[in-house]
Amino acid sequence: MLRLGVNVDHVATIRNARGGTHPDPVAAAKIALAAGADGITAHLREDRRHIRDDDMRRLRREVTAPLNFEMAATSEMLELALEILPHACCLVPERRTEVTTEGGLDAAAGGSTLADYVARLRKVGIRVSLFIDPDPRQLDAAKRVGAPVVELHTGSYAHAAGSGVALELGRLKTAARHAAALGLECHAGHGLDFDNVGPVAAIPELVELNIGHFLVGEAVFGGLGGSVRTMRRLMDSARAT
Ligand code: PXP
Repeated sequence: MLRLGVNVDHVATIRNARGGTHPDPVAAAKIALAAGADGITAHLREDRRHIRDDDMRRLRREVTAPLNFEMAATSEMLELALEILPHACCLVPERRTEVTTEGGLDAAAGGSTLADYVARLRKVGIRVSLFIDPDPRQLDAAKRVGAPVVELHTGSYAHAAGSGVALELGRLKTAARHAAALGLECHAGHGLDFDNVGPVAAIPELVELNIGHFLVGEAVFGGLGGSVRTMRRLMDSARAT
């Protein structure tokens, strides 16, 4: 079965817009799990623009399903991961000025430093994945640095148009096959939505998809009507009494 990891980063983005506690990414994680998600993903960025340290600790404490801690390969994040001990860590590239994770990790350039991060996380039983572009050279490098899992960046596929869609889908299929041949567990994610998830979900070598921004955005449309109806009812009943 193909697992679904729900990324709750952007619940925290909405919360942080007002600096309070609502909406709570931990409460969102519980809803996602009750609705069929298999795990929860959260990215603790260096600038803490959405998920914060305390969110990560609470997700680990209050959510029983596997937690996938997305992080840059830095000593600060390594220390936190070793304290929180999530089920999994996904090492991602990070630039402070980027809007979102724009490309895969350059595992080929990461060499011994990356291998050291992978080893230190694996030593305490954390499943480590590398978020990489669907490029055979990156898969070979992921294998070399000792990562048991890769997550293929589906951003280029999600943003492709016209004939580019088939081309990018082909790259994902080839990469997933290559990962399997290398003995790497293969995940995918970024930019997936209701319209583009089908062909990716059909790739047989993939065992997990991580999806966030679209699901949180779509929840507005699924849930806004109910929120307004509840507010209307509360206002009307206050006037009636
Ligand atoms: N996987 C990884 C490694 C990511 O960095 C992200 C985005 O934080 C996702 C999956 C989810 O991408 P999206 O929010 O576009 O669904």
